[in-house]
Amino acid sequence: DGEISLRPKWLHEYIGQDKAKEKLNIFIQAAKGRNESLDHVLLYGPPGLGKTTLANIIANEMGVNLRVTSGPAIERPGDLASILTNLGEDDVLFIDEIHRINRTVEEILYPAMEDFALDIIIGKGPSARSVRLDLSRFTLIGATTRAGLLTSPLRDRFGVMLNLELYDIHSLKDIIIRSSSILKIKIEEEGALEIARRSRGTPRIANRLLKRVRDYAQVIEDGIITWEVAKKGLEILEVDELGLDAVDRKLLIALIQNFGGGPVGIDTLSAATGEERATIEDVYEPYLLQIGFINRTPRGRMATKKSYEHFNIPFNE
Ligand code: ADE
Repeated sequence: DGEISLRPKWLHEYIGQDKAKEKLNIFIQAAKGRNESLDHVLLYGPPGLGKTTLANIIANEMGVNLRVTSGPAIERPGDLASILTNLGEDDVLFIDEIHRINRTVEEILYPAMEDFALDIIIGKGPSARSVRLDLSRFTLIGATTRAGLLTSPLRDRFGVMLNLELYDIHSLKDIIIRSSSILKIKIEEEGALEIARRSRGTPRIANRLLKRVRDYAQVIEDGIITWEVAKKGLEILEVDELGLDAVDRKLLIALIQNFGGGPVGIDTLSAATGEERATIEDVYEPYLLQIGFINRTPRGRMATKKSYEHFNIPFNE
């Protein structure tokens, strides 16, 4: 499938996130040099920045198997126990949305991460006893949108914490050019740059827009994504010059028109727009903050002058 083939398999193919990449490269080389498994890794940052891709790369670079699951998918302690006992030596277990695992499952994870052991209770009532089962050594990679969503005992058990940030336009452009070459899409640098500008700092969005602009180029134009073709294709997709979508616009308009530009509390903004607080915080806000459309103050969110200008609404200091 296209999504899979676009994913880089090695660290040197992975574009952007230079700080995370530099650290990871050192930790991977060090662990390999000592013939050890990699310490547990926590990846945190907005959605769509390649956490699953990085987990794949880590397993690949370490030469081990990868097992993928997610916080909400692990319902009972037994589910996790079964995954853990089936891991091979030094394998990588990737748990996406790890902040959503429940309390009883989380407690299984502590001895597993720390001592590679599983504590199981045998029997019931006064004769119940605890038996410790050894596990293979493994690397847990947890992914979450914000490190602060984890309880501190869980967070403290990760030896490596990597913060993924929104991508800059040039990294996104390079990703689009790389993806185009894999998908055999003809694209000019300026066309790639225009798609990059409207991708909200997110490779997942960049690759999606690239595929839709390719459709437009193929059917309506001559198949080559030039700057003009990218611009017209994105217009039809209703993606504006900054990549804002209908929800971004709704949030900003509410902030400006219902609350005089703020400051307004996140829960109030959530109630006024019908968007969940966590979605606003994890999906929409990071990009609006990055492009300088909103500010976070102790008293709440505020729309900036840039934001007013984007909607042609007069800004009064
Ligand atoms: N495709 C999606 N994300 C990527 C990245 N960071 N580098 C290269 N290709 C990608």
